Amino acid sequence: MIIAVDGPAASGKGTLASGLARHYGLAHLDTGLLYRAVGLAVAGQEDHPEFETKAIAAAQALEPGHLGDVAKLTTAEAGSLASKVAVIGEVRALLRQYQRDFASQPRGAVLDGRDIGTVICPDAEVKLFIKADSKARMERRARQLEGRGLVVDRYALYHQIEERDARDMANPNGGFYPAADAHLLDTTLLDIEAALRAAIGIVDGVMARRVER
Ligand code: C5P
Repeated sequence: MIIAVDGPAASGKGTLASGLARHYGLAHLDTGLLYRAVGLAVAGQEDHPEFETKAIAAAQALEPGHLGDVAKLTTAEAGSLASKVAVIGEVRALLRQYQRDFASQPRGAVLDGRDIGTVICPDAEVKLFIKADSKARMERRARQLEGRGLVVDRYALYHQIEERDARDMANPNGGFYPAADAHLLDTTLLDIEAALRAAIGIVDGVMARRVER
């Protein structure tokens, strides 16, 4: 079974995807980490005339099994850099095959990202699109960062999330919208346990209907 979990920045899709993977005994790939690793590899070079070429080279050199320090990969800066390299078609193409290979393991997998249900795994058995309003997403991300001992400027974080949403929505090489057959799950008012229960309910319902057919 392949479960595709898409949604905007800080929507909780990563936590939900790893909870679903644990629940169903499936492998999990956070595809945002791939883009973040490429972004970090070209940090500070955003204004370089060869930025695209450098990002493509970084994507070529990427070793998905060794993405580096998770603490660095999960910073807001890495997220912002990721969205800058994610608009480059060749970068997306280079990362696409790895994601598809990961999804095609015999038992299936859970992948979370932006274009899993639309581009990477259009035939996934279950597709979820996670939503949450910008303020709720900012607050969740702020608490995550504070949990790591970081001092958070909520105003700046809110704008970073909005800016990243805007860049992602305008991505000409994206596919950052819910697949037509995706199930929408709005987690604005849900804590993680409730959101996971709701997601499991959706997956179980879809799988039960598939068996009936
Ligand atoms: O999901 P996460 O916030 O870690 O993603 C970081 C950035 O990487 C996103 O804002 C998006 O620009 C890019 N991304 C993407 N396609 C994916 C996953 C992430 O373009 N499947």
